[in-house]
Amino acid sequence: MPGLRAPSDYSEEPSRHPALKINAKAPFNAEPPRQALVSSYVTPTEFFYKRSHGPIPVVDDIERYSVSIKGLIEKPKEFFMKDILSLPKYNVTATLQCAGNRRTAMSKTRTVRGVGWDVCALGNGPSPNNCCHAIWGGAKLADVLELVGIPKYTNTTPAGGKFVEFVSVDRCKEENGGPYKASIPLSQATNPEADVLLAYEMNGETLNRDHGYPLRVVVPGVIGARSVKWLDSINIDSQDCKGFFVQKDYKMFPPTVNWDNIDWSTRRPQMDFPVQSAICSLEDVNVGRHGKITVKGYAVSGGGRGIERVDISTDGGKTWKEASRYQKPGIQYVADDEKSDKWAWVLFEADVDVQSNTEIVAKAVDIAANVQPEKVEDIWNLRGILNTSWHRVHVQVRHSSM
Ligand code: MTE
Repeated sequence: MPGLRAPSDYSEEPSRHPALKINAKAPFNAEPPRQALVSSYVTPTEFFYKRSHGPIPVVDDIERYSVSIKGLIEKPKEFFMKDILSLPKYNVTATLQCAGNRRTAMSKTRTVRGVGWDVCALGNGPSPNNCCHAIWGGAKLADVLELVGIPKYTNTTPAGGKFVEFVSVDRCKEENGGPYKASIPLSQATNPEADVLLAYEMNGETLNRDHGYPLRVVVPGVIGARSVKWLDSINIDSQDCKGFFVQKDYKMFPPTVNWDNIDWSTRRPQMDFPVQSAICSLEDVNVGRHGKITVKGYAVSGGGRGIERVDISTDGGKTWKEASRYQKPGIQYVADDEKSDKWAWVLFEADVDVQSNTEIVAKAVDIAANVQPEKVEDIWNLRGILNTSWHRVHVQVRHSSM
């Protein structure tokens, strides 16, 4: 690809914030500390989780960089950066969440395969200065597809195209050195309300290399794996992408499936993520004095479903109290309200009184009344994805002898 190049080793990696917790060095996978993640509604770029499967690509010449759109369409076309920039720009606040978020906790039940992640493999927005403009900036994919002759709200092109495949340039060992790729249905891609972006900005700043410079896809409400970074080409196809990450990864299997009896073709590629929440003001095990504790965290659901409620328990789930929720500081959040960011998380907060050793639990409910499952055992799966079980942390009280 002219202008955009994929290094074959890790000698040209960008610099990163030293506070990130590195889960794998090469390819680079890292997440912020829990407290840092919920210290702002908008995730600062340097604290946004970073998930890659190969060396980070390099832009040598932005003038020569282009994205080609081809496949089952009448008017294949090449788009240079200036063409994308000339389209109407949209700012979308959306939480990107890796399907592997909270995998480490799932692996404690039974071994799973994959990079270990704590509870911070997600981020909202991001913002360079913690302000409230949580945005991915870019052109709507629906507008771009119109320019190759695919009208808005199209399910199938006259030539039989039903899926939109995004192909990158990075070299992934899972693809035998080939690029990362993924696809979404054409109906989602051409629906302007689905807000699928070809993004060139994170909160008003040019995307950085880790997050997909010069151009990435952002598919709001869907697991992060479909938001392809370092976009090289777009293919309109009659079928789902045949790449590893769509066919042999990021699928949700029942707990009975193991590596001996797995049949990947029996499951569909995961798209929307389920309702999720996690406490971020506390670690898994905390030692402290008795008294009031403020429990803070995030809650988010896929598919544009807002968060209706977040419940907190201090007795392992026997009794609950409702946490307050917010997106904009000082403004009460209302799920499904036109002023709420429907693709974005809410932060929650609740004061609890802790007098003895306690398990604090969080669970969220979305506007479709979907609730997080109680036990991780019930949703255990061999790839360790979508651990959305109730989030539990422990407080051990040390009574002072004074
Ligand atoms: N796109 C490319 N080209 N290569 C990748 O490795 N990883 C995917 C997705 N897009 C990936 C990619 C996964 S699994 C996730 S969760 C998100 O990017 C992570 O995006 P981020 O690093 O900007 O947080």
